[in-house]
Amino acid sequence: MNIVVLAGGISTERDVSLATGNNVVKALKSKGYNAKLLDLFLGYNGNYKDFFKHEETNELLLTIGDKSPSIEEVIASRNIKSKELFGPNVLNICKYADIVFVSLHGSDGENGKVQGLFDILGVKYTGSGSLGSAIAMNKYITKQLLIANNIKTAPYILLKKGDNIPEYKKEVVIKPLSGGSSVGVSIAKNEKEYKEAIELAFSYEDEILIEDYIKGREFSVGVLGDTVLPPIEIIPKSGFYDYKNKYQPGMTDEICPANLDRTKELQDITYKVFKVLQLQVYGRIDFILSEKDNCFYVLEANSLPGLTSMSLIPQEAKAVGIDYVSLCEKIIELSQKK
Ligand SMILES: Nc1ncnc2c1ncn2[C@@H]1O[C@H](COP(=O)(O)OP(=O)(O)O)[C@@H](O)[C@H]1O
Ligand SMILES: [Mg+2]
Repeated sequence: MNIVVLAGGISTERDVSLATGNNVVKALKSKGYNAKLLDLFLGYNGNYKDFFKHEETNELLLTIGDKSPSIEEVIASRNIKSKELFGPNVLNICKYADIVFVSLHGSDGENGKVQGLFDILGVKYTGSGSLGSAIAMNKYITKQLLIANNIKTAPYILLKKGDNIPEYKKEVVIKPLSGGSSVGVSIAKNEKEYKEAIELAFSYEDEILIEDYIKGREFSVGVLGDTVLPPIEIIPKSGFYDYKNKYQPGMTDEICPANLDRTKELQDITYKVFKVLQLQVYGRIDFILSEKDNCFYVLEANSLPGLTSMSLIPQEAKAVGIDYVSLCEKIIELSQKK
């Protein structure tokens, strides 16, 4: 079976995606699949028909830096003037493959556009379809659907570039509308931090959310097909679960299964969110259990959760006896039946 593991691209989560992609390639190869990594943006310089026969020469990126990477350098390195997101031969290779394992994270691959194109062209791919991907990527639309379905989510204000900035009243979380990996997310505890946080979030996107800060324990719960995985509790050693605390080893305690006496309740909410947001195959929902009212608040949903060695879903799967290789195989199997 020829599998393209599509990764990289030019989102702020490029490095995370490459780390996911390389892990997936390694796992699939160990099971005898002909799996090859392909960078969405840089593509393949050769005849696409030879892609599955070529020896990999690119350095494997298996570690992630403590900051999101500079995308300008990646764009400059392509040597093609066009702004086309798909690099040389990417589309032909994807058409030629038996399935595309979508290992993209962030805007390019997670917002449903790539999935929509694949649907039109009849390319088989893993994970959610274009609608679920588009919904989950947009934290504002996600909230609208959650509220309409009586699922608790942090109260928020949507702010567009140029809007009047509301007065600072209390601790809030500022985040770009469609980001991921906590890039551009800050917690503002005073007016100065508030102004800086808004500026930072606007440096990534033209629309941002100002959310009430929900104090409490943080959990994340994965879904694989019809199975809701055991919740994982996230306890950063300092600060909140930002980029550094997500990807630098040892910065965060991750306890799976979480020590929680309301696991079933949390799993039921997770499955409801997964369905309401039109997600398919697999996904992960982030929560805070509020100290104030003892309710679970949904922070956001991830249609392409990370599959790096540090990532949460692989840990959750492992807790129910699904090792990393089986997880990848299961994702392919479920995606083929979609
Ligand atoms: N409303 C909130 N209250 C408290 N902490 C939050 C809130 N929103 C986000 N966070 C913190 O910021 C992290 C990243 O926010 P999240 O909405 O999950 O965005 P991302 O898509 O970048 O993961 C969360 O894992 C959590 O630690
Ligand atoms: Mg998150």
